[in-house]
Amino acid sequence: MSDDLLVAARLALTRAYAPYSRHRVGAAVRGLSGAIYAGCNIENAAYPEGICAEAVAIATMIMAGETRLVEVVVIGETDGLCTPCGGCRQKLHEFGRADVRIHVGGPEGTTSRTFSLDELLPHAFGPDNLP
Ligand code: THU
Repeated sequence: MSDDLLVAARLALTRAYAPYSRHRVGAAVRGLSGAIYAGCNIENAAYPEGICAEAVAIATMIMAGETRLVEVVVIGETDGLCTPCGGCRQKLHEFGRADVRIHVGGPEGTTSRTFSLDELLPHAFGPDNLP
């Protein structure tokens, strides 16, 4: 993984709005063009209305006119690994192929494990499952 993706995720984490969980998350995705799109989690007093960092990064990519992501970094302030939640795995699957690498990190701000999208969401339902 090149450092630029990690740097973008770290910066994104500092922008997180997480007054309720106090769990700040930063994500960065690289589009097929090579451009980087970052996002942070944005919580809400109406708790279910909060948005995950990965969703914000993906929305930023879509707004820039790209529809394919090739690499992902997610870091969070948790003692363990900040792996994407189920909903975010599904969102990543919409725009990434099975071999997309997802680098996951913890509170020290470094990534410590890499998964493929297929490992995180095996037998996924996606665009190919629709007629
Ligand atoms: N969160 C993310 O941003 N991404 C994930 O994949 C898992 C969870 C956020 C949502 C919420 O603001 C906080 O982490 C605690 O769940």
